[in-house]
Amino acid sequence: MKIIDKTIEILIPTDKLLSRVQELGAEITKAYAEAKEAPVLICILKGSFIFIADLIRYIDLPVTVDFLGTSSYGADTKSSGVVEITKDLSEPIKNRDVIIIEDIIDTGLTMDYLIKMLRTRGPNSIKVCSLLHKPSRMKVRVPMDFLGFMIDDKFVIGYGLDYAQKYRNLDYIGVLSL
Ligand code: IMP
Ligand code: MG
Repeated sequence: MKIIDKTIEILIPTDKLLSRVQELGAEITKAYAEAKEAPVLICILKGSFIFIADLIRYIDLPVTVDFLGTSSYGADTKSSGVVEITKDLSEPIKNRDVIIIEDIIDTGLTMDYLIKMLRTRGPNSIKVCSLLHKPSRMKVRVPMDFLGFMIDDKFVIGYGLDYAQKYRNLDYIGVLSL
């Protein structure tokens, strides 16, 4: 969707997004180059589906991909801290090296919950890859092993991220003035 609504301002344009995603792919490739088995990437739905689709094409390892559906927002712009699992993984992660692929870490509450939940399933390791992070809003410290961009405390949309389920199809990250 190229049409720019007058209430949307471009924060990260497509070319900048893709070149950073390419770098993240190279970082992940390097980090797991010596691993016995390639990692499983867990896409946190719905927000991360576009990010992971681009990212895996820049990872030069035989990774596997799985999907975890979560919902924490309702139609609001503030995290409730309550994470509902709407779709579970399709494969066990026992003894696997896991990389959680997230669109954005805001307060950290969602990621903290997800790491604790996935840890109970006995993976060999868990790392976190997030496209965006708003450091000023952090409430819980969570690891960010691979991070795309730090951004200011603004509500962002596009490239998978939504406001009330809309705007995921923008090919850039924009700021929505509410
Ligand atoms: P946290 O639990 O506060 O870290 O929020 C994490 C989740 O809230 C993310 O996975 C997003 O789905 C959503 N979220 C946080 N900030 C934004 C934003 O600026 N735009 C869209 N979704 C957001
Ligand atoms: Mg999300």
